[in-house]
Amino acid sequence: MGLVTTKWAYSRPNGKACLSIFLSLSKTTNRSLLFLSRSSRLFVRVERKTAMGTGREASVSLDGVRDKNVMQLKKLNTVLFPVRYNDKYYADAIASGEFTKLAYYSDICVGAIACRLEKKEGGAMRVYIMTLGVLAPYRGIGIGSKLLNHVLDICTKQNISEIYLHVQTNNEDAIKFYKKFGFEITDTIQDYYINIEPRDCYVVTKSFAQSEASK
Ligand SMILES: CC(C)(COP(=O)(O)OP(=O)(O)OC[C@H]1O[C@@H](n2cnc3c(N)ncnc32)[C@H](O)[C@@H]1OP(=O)(O)O)[C@@H](O)C(=O)NCCC(=O)NCCS
Repeated sequence: MGLVTTKWAYSRPNGKACLSIFLSLSKTTNRSLLFLSRSSRLFVRVERKTAMGTGREASVSLDGVRDKNVMQLKKLNTVLFPVRYNDKYYADAIASGEFTKLAYYSDICVGAIACRLEKKEGGAMRVYIMTLGVLAPYRGIGIGSKLLNHVLDICTKQNISEIYLHVQTNNEDAIKFYKKFGFEITDTIQDYYINIEPRDCYVVTKSFAQSEASK
């Protein structure tokens, strides 16, 4: 078994009893954590303090997605997004290589960025961010930034012309997040989503200056 340490503590923010659970798990218990994070009975919370307040960086590492661990990405997506992704999504994610990463917080899988590589007319490559998400208890401690920065760095190194994504028009947190990284709203598509409200999305894009050779 991979369980190393478990510490439970009770606190009452806003007068409501809440349960904080601090888990230190090895990779073999990731499934248990995802189960816990989905449970409506438990509120799993990692205090910002544990990662930032001490002045120490959260221990976050990134790992690639392969056939062997693609289940981790599938589990995350069922928790994070109201959309079921098809086999092509996962094939594209694996095929993108370094552009798709899982994020581990102290060996617990808590987030992922999944991209697809696309060839533009004329041959230039662009990157489409299919999904970027971090489990709610682990937000606000830099994991989303680490995942996005990783992809932006390789875009620069590999002379990618642009990176873009679709985001629901009411997802203000995500729009603010992407703007911080130099993305701009470049289009609005009505009725982009079928089963979720609002159905409209923004196209959010960041363009990179390209070297003459690759234009
Ligand atoms: C968007 C998302 C990936 C950001 O991930 P994250 O790990 O919280 O991002 P970071 O910790 O790197 O925070 C980046 C900024 O977002 C802000 N932020 C976002 N969510 C936050 C939260 N719950 N608590 C505190 N700050 C938050 C922070 O202010 C931070 O700005 P700062 O660096 O000036 O403090 C995450 O909110 C998420 O998974 N959302 C749901 C899925 C989604 O909508 N994805 C986008 C569409 S694909």
